[in-house]
Amino acid sequence: MRAVVLGAGGQLGFELTAELRKRGVHVLAVTRRQLDITEPSAVEALFHRHQPDWVLNAAAYNLVDKAEREPELAYRVNALGVRNIAVAASGVGATLVHYSTDHVFDGEKQTPYEEEDLPSPPSAYGISKLAGEYYAHAYCDKRFVIRVAGVFGPAGQFTNRSNFPELVLRKARAKEPLRVVEDFFATPTYAVPLAARSVDLLEKAPFGLYHLGGGETVSWYQYALKILEAAQLEADIQPTNHREYVTPARRPRHSSLSNKKIEELGLPPMPTLDEALADYLHRRDTVRSAIETKA
Ligand SMILES: NC(=O)c1ccc[n+]([C@@H]2O[C@H](COP(=O)([O-])OP(=O)(O)OC[C@H]3O[C@@H](n4cnc5c(N)ncnc54)[C@H](OP(=O)(O)O)[C@@H]3O)[C@@H](O)[C@H]2O)c1
Repeated sequence: MRAVVLGAGGQLGFELTAELRKRGVHVLAVTRRQLDITEPSAVEALFHRHQPDWVLNAAAYNLVDKAEREPELAYRVNALGVRNIAVAASGVGATLVHYSTDHVFDGEKQTPYEEEDLPSPPSAYGISKLAGEYYAHAYCDKRFVIRVAGVFGPAGQFTNRSNFPELVLRKARAKEPLRVVEDFFATPTYAVPLAARSVDLLEKAPFGLYHLGGGETVSWYQYALKILEAAQLEADIQPTNHREYVTPARRPRHSSLSNKKIEELGLPPMPTLDEALADYLHRRDTVRSAIETKA
């Protein structure tokens, strides 16, 4: 099998590349420097040159607050970029795996969101990602759209956007105060098992829409405490709430994703958050030395 991974310089793209290579797939790992997904002819030319069986798109504009100031750019990458990929993947007969987000939901539901729940994105970022889902479904018959939440992977220590564990570790080590919301809840998704389950889906499951959250609902405050505990760090940490923590973009308050559909397919459950964080901290050093060796 031949795969193209787009967004290979990001947290998830890094893990997808590693997981596919582990399974013997020939992978072309493509970073933003090598291909801008907003350029339709460049996307098409790359797929024609490499004739992939699978295309996995982990490239995205992920700056949730900044998207409120530049919604056109978010839309160009997250919606029209996905259209370019879906059209080009379909043109070479490839199966597409595309990633979306819990931010397609408004967060008013008090129980985990299932695939049948109606999206109602509260922000420019969420709207752009939902439009990307629609483009994937509309232009590529052989496609998986996987919604994930609060992705964290060891490569996040080097990426432009980074991730929540890195923010907590950095602030704790710098002895800066941490104020974290205790009334926003999510299912943070560890990129390593996310990559493995994605390839499982490709190999075994019917095309369609899937939720792949971390499987454990926590508040962001509880999550920060777990990170500190796993890293055995002391910090000046206090809970805050949605009244005090006001951001340019509206975020869903309860955006847990239910993994029921993938578990009913017989895929292994995601690890607990404690297990995921322990593995994350362990892998940070391995990934750092791998990336430094390559550079
Ligand atoms: N991270 C989260 O908390 C989170 C939560 C929910 C859903 N998701 C979704 O999960 C997927 C993977 O996210 P991630 O955490 O791996 O993101 P990430 O680490 O930010 O990686 C995204 C990658 O996409 C690249 N990119 C941006 N614009 C591009 C363009 N026009 N052409 C080509 N590449 C471009 C970025 O390059 P630059 O760094 O150079 O811009 C970056 O390498 C995305 O679909 C994301 O929307 C993520």
